[in-house]
Amino acid sequence: MKKRVLGFLLTAVMAMGLFAGCGPADTGAPADSGSTDAATESGDTAASTGKKVAVAMPTQSSERWINDGNNMKAKLEALGYEVDLQYAEDDVQAQVSQIENMIAAGADCLVIAAVDSSALVNVEAQAKEAGIPIIAYDRLLMDTDAVSYYATFDNKGVGTAIGKYIEESKDLANTDESYTIEFFMGSPDDNNAVMLYNGLMEVLQPYLDDGTLVCKSGRTSFEDTCILRWSQETAQQNCENYLTGFYADDKLDICATAFDGFAYGCKAALEGAGYKVGEDWPLITGQDAELMATKNIIAGSQTMSIYKDTRLLADKCVTMVQAVLEGAEPEINDEEQYDNGKLVVPSYLCTPVAVDKDNYKEIIVDGGYYTEEQLAE
Ligand code: BGC
Repeated sequence: MKKRVLGFLLTAVMAMGLFAGCGPADTGAPADSGSTDAATESGDTAASTGKKVAVAMPTQSSERWINDGNNMKAKLEALGYEVDLQYAEDDVQAQVSQIENMIAAGADCLVIAAVDSSALVNVEAQAKEAGIPIIAYDRLLMDTDAVSYYATFDNKGVGTAIGKYIEESKDLANTDESYTIEFFMGSPDDNNAVMLYNGLMEVLQPYLDDGTLVCKSGRTSFEDTCILRWSQETAQQNCENYLTGFYADDKLDICATAFDGFAYGCKAALEGAGYKVGEDWPLITGQDAELMATKNIIAGSQTMSIYKDTRLLADKCVTMVQAVLEGAEPEINDEEQYDNGKLVVPSYLCTPVAVDKDNYKEIIVDGGYYTEEQLAE
């Protein structure tokens, strides 16, 4: 369209589901859940600390959380902690009950990746009263003063990285063309989703304003494009609706999605509408660099993803657990951005990296996350 014309070993053992709620055997887990901490690097397993760390994860429906849970369990056990890992399958009440049970079962520390970041206030207060420290894992825990630290990725940085990828791929700053774009943003109950959106729009809004990018559905706000609980099915449905409602006589050039699951949903919708890879297939973004997404990137049905090394995140989170339980000093690199409404939570932000077919070997394969064999299966 012309511009403005249309305006890891331990991991293997754990992954078999020794705990109720653990992941299935074939998790698509990274090749080596390697660690940067001393205990696991030397291969030694520390003597039992006698302390129990409970890890509440949101869902096994997305590969990254299975990897996160496996990495956390392996690293904590290598340091001599007993670990209770549970998944809530995106059910808010189930997660509340799991955390209540963890408190009752005598957890010494809670690590929580929330299903709904604001829904755990009461159970977090119970933990505080029982003297149990809480670490927020990947997703900020909102509206509570019971959280000690937060380990995450630079969530706004994820958004800007996706935006910059689109900007550079389409040479938006210099082109005379205009490109159609639709947005598929994250869950409104996840603070990460809003931050990603803000980072993305910081890059793309000027191009929407000057007509270089054209969103034919008109849905560009976070409220209009967010998808509850990061549902792949909803993303597919939205994409189907956009294609039939707004792209009958025109092609969709860009699916700006915030999650690999959304990219799979868009892929299914586009296939259904007759789009062909290598011909009129749009640029599709994602997040997490899941195994399937990385295979899709190699095959050309997804353009890029955001690689988040869950091994690194687990390392940083484990130092926070040690800090609250052993009085050690965790590494913090942000004491400004993550205000949860009650306090600015001391955070460690890992760096997200954009991956595509040009750099996946260097970043993902050479980085030991997936092997060439896993990617070829
Ligand atoms: C995480 C993303 C993930 C999304 C859906 C977010 O909180 O930061 O990495 O893609 O949840 O599971």
